[in-house]
Amino acid sequence: MNADPNAPAGASQRLVAVRENVAIARDTYRLRLDDPILARAILPGQFLMIRPAAEGADDPLLGRPFALYDVTTDAAGAPTAVDVVYLVVGRGTAALAQRRPGEQLSVWGPLGNGFGPPPAGPVIFVAGGIGQTPFLALGRWWLGKMSYGLQSKGLDPPCPGSAVGLSSSSSATLLYGVRTAALLAGVNDFRQVGIDVEIATDDGSAGHRGFVTELLARRLKQGERPARIVGCGPSSMLAALARLVEPFDIPCEVSLENHMACGFGACFSCVVPIRQPAGTIDLRRVCVEGPVFAASAVEWPASASPH
Ligand SMILES: Cc1cc2nc3c(=O)[nH]c(=O)nc-3n(C[C@H](O)[C@H](O)[C@H](O)COP(=O)(O)OP(=O)(O)OC[C@H]3O[C@@H](n4cnc5c(N)ncnc54)[C@H](O)[C@@H]3O)c2cc1C
Ligand code: FES
Repeated sequence: MNADPNAPAGASQRLVAVRENVAIARDTYRLRLDDPILARAILPGQFLMIRPAAEGADDPLLGRPFALYDVTTDAAGAPTAVDVVYLVVGRGTAALAQRRPGEQLSVWGPLGNGFGPPPAGPVIFVAGGIGQTPFLALGRWWLGKMSYGLQSKGLDPPCPGSAVGLSSSSSATLLYGVRTAALLAGVNDFRQVGIDVEIATDDGSAGHRGFVTELLARRLKQGERPARIVGCGPSSMLAALARLVEPFDIPCEVSLENHMACGFGACFSCVVPIRQPAGTIDLRRVCVEGPVFAASAVEWPASASPH
């Protein structure tokens, strides 16, 4: 069922069984959803609306958006399940943490625009808080290690190594900032697929003590010029990232995590001001026209604190 003509082709709502829901860091869980259809269709940067309530219960009523973390495949390379990684922050995510293997959840997706093809050259991902989640699948794809979503376009099924011959980025680095080391989630997942990880913590309990944008500032100052920079995290961090990158003329994208009520374009609860090519500023729905936008196009709030 497509509720909006702008919703991505193949987006649908169904009941999906939980295969795993395991803690991987403080207040942070990896949820594995048994859904081969979604696993074949979803692209890095797209997201799902997951209704965290137990089957039959009506609280919370609304779904919550979560980015694709990764797709799992069987021994033959066929996509079988979709992983999301989530931080418990409120009612919905607390309810999700209670879900057990075998229970069914209402899931709507794949939603949103996702990322474009890999840029040639090195790429840097900048993540704050739980903003690392879109970068595992993106890194695997851009490094040419995994294809995603091809079956939805009538092409070959995604499987490890199937990207031979496709263009890919030469290296990927994740700059990953959290408040404290206990919140670091999935660092080994990134390293295992060949993404370099550099860490920053507010309290100095791991890596650099300070903001994650300082790690990027240091690299840019030393002359590093990646082919693309991509950020995901709190809007104050993304605003600081956009300001930092602007003078360097390096393409920079951000994946926004605005509050969402419907997830498919109907309620306008997720709008963000986006500068148009003609210079005007129009409101765009993060759930349909995003969540990925050029950092230079976003009209960042003046109140976004310096980072
Ligand atoms: C496209 C997209 C992808 C996302 N991917 C992930 C992901 O992979 N993993 C993950 O953990 N989270 C992700 N989020 C954020 C996640 O959707 C929210 O954390 C979740 O909806 C909170 O639900 P809740 O009911 O637990 O919190 P609520 O009870 O609704 O809120 C609890 C507190 O958190 C604040 N809050 C809730 N949502 C947000 C938000 N989006 N931004 C800022 N503050 C918020 C509220 O203001 C409140 O203070 C994503 C959001 C979007 C839009
Ligand atoms: S969440 Fe309803 S329009 Fe975006």
